[in-house]
Amino acid sequence: FNAPSPANEPVKEYRPGSPEREAVKAALADFWAIETEIPMYIGGKEVRTDHKLRVAPPHDHQHTLGYFYEGDAQHVEQAIEAALSAKEAWAKLSWEHRASIFLKAADLIAGPYRARINAATMLGQSKNAYQAEIDSACELIDFLRFNVHYATEIYQQQPNSSPGVWNRLEYRPLEGFIFALTPFNFTAIAGNLPTSAALMGNTVVWKPAYSQVLSAKVIMDVLNEAGLPAGVINLIFVDGPIAGEIIFNHADFAGIHFTGSTGVFQQIWGTIGANIHKYKSYPRIVGETGGKDFVLVHESANADEVATGLVRGAFEYQGQKCSAASRAYVPSTLWPEVEAKIKLYLGEIKMGGTEDFTNFINAVIDERAFKKITAYIDEAKKSDQVTIIAGGNYDGSKGYFIEPTVLKVDNPAYRTMCEEIFGPVLSVYVYEPSDFDKIIETVNTTSPYALTGSIFAKDRYIIDHVTSKLQNAAGNFYINDKPTGAVVGQQPFGGARASGTNDKAGSALNLYRWVSARTIKETF
Ligand code: NAD
Ligand code: ALA
Repeated sequence: FNAPSPANEPVKEYRPGSPEREAVKAALADFWAIETEIPMYIGGKEVRTDHKLRVAPPHDHQHTLGYFYEGDAQHVEQAIEAALSAKEAWAKLSWEHRASIFLKAADLIAGPYRARINAATMLGQSKNAYQAEIDSACELIDFLRFNVHYATEIYQQQPNSSPGVWNRLEYRPLEGFIFALTPFNFTAIAGNLPTSAALMGNTVVWKPAYSQVLSAKVIMDVLNEAGLPAGVINLIFVDGPIAGEIIFNHADFAGIHFTGSTGVFQQIWGTIGANIHKYKSYPRIVGETGGKDFVLVHESANADEVATGLVRGAFEYQGQKCSAASRAYVPSTLWPEVEAKIKLYLGEIKMGGTEDFTNFINAVIDERAFKKITAYIDEAKKSDQVTIIAGGNYDGSKGYFIEPTVLKVDNPAYRTMCEEIFGPVLSVYVYEPSDFDKIIETVNTTSPYALTGSIFAKDRYIIDHVTSKLQNAAGNFYINDKPTGAVVGQQPFGGARASGTNDKAGSALNLYRWVSARTIKETF
């Protein structure tokens, strides 16, 4: 099977008057006017319950976009049953047929569903058009296409044989079902986690975050139209701990594909460990988790590039990217220029809702996030270790809006330098250039995370030195660039330490986790 050679899906620009802008505006208007009904999908059937929950856009939380139907323990059982029943036929289906479904899904998103999935992400998860385009269109399309490409390579890898002996590796799916547990902040991740496991012949129970259900529905519509057989991916809306209680006690639980916060992942890992004797096989545990992503600036850096990298890296999508720049270390020699440029660029940024395409910053996802982020800002305002350089204001009355906020901290161990805030807050520590080696050590040790990080420097020896010293501090390390925006097929993405199992989403490394190879030797 020759899968089409993958190329990254080109990013559309959504300029005023462009066909893509008009298409997404029409899709936004549809979602705004018509309340969307979002059922669960179990065994290929739409499932509704008596428990309807409202979907609201974060930028206008009194507006109702639609409803989803929340399930309970019995729906989790049903989803597991559906996944197990669908397993044999799905695993036996030839690789070409499995792959063609996901390639078709990619084409559907690239074409007829592009505006709809982007509009769902813009309204449901408060992304601007560009942030939605690079997530729910391009990255999801890339995941689907590149996964087929990498899987093709995996299936072709075979051991040596010799005269009279034929050896082969059979890349079987895992025995049992996979649980995909996905976060709110990337539609692409929500789409990739169940589909990558399913591509390798597994069947899946998928539980998304409740704040991502609108785009989850579009993903499910796409998969159904692409011809995914009933029961291969079962979408449930059930409270995480209730779902976990059943799934992590089930003998056929074969693995979890998780992206979300570190705390939740560690709790899940502990539960799986405690239940390990109950399972038929050791479950695969794959998790991409939180970050406290750094930008280290050397005095040889270009101040304008630093300021641009910090503003984009920290504040695109309101800082709600696991990869967002949230702690920066800037030499005192460069700080006056970097500070002035950050203020200049932030002064040009507009904050507001989805309806205005010129808004750069939108609302944060929900009330819980709003309270958590603003508590950090309030505490910083009272601290004698912090100076507010920019922002610091917020208003949650209509939408959950928080200004892009820059804190200059006098103590590199101050809590906003160490803890994941997951919002539009950047903390900066200004150091003396003679302390550079001490600062490298500080970057390496002040946070338990190791997701992304950047070094800005022009000095080649410094770049080399820092790259080597910080080899375990970031799964994705950037030189003279912001630490966000990894592209599938170009910068495989994942973090180490408390940031995850580093199985690199959208790469062969990840797909290997969803097969359990059998070695077969045949003699003649
Ligand atoms: P979250 O951990 O709150 O939720 C993730 C998923 O787990 C959701 O579906 C949620 O409902 C479920 N869940 C929550 N508590 C649970 C429990 N006790 N038992 C079972 N399921 C439970 O994360 P979020 O707020 O949706 O996403 C933001 C987090 O995700 C941030 O920490 C961010 O850094 C991380 N993230 C990491 C990456 C990465 O690639 N490393 C990418 C995106 C997001
Ligand atoms: N893949 C996303 C990024 O790199 C999380 O920003």
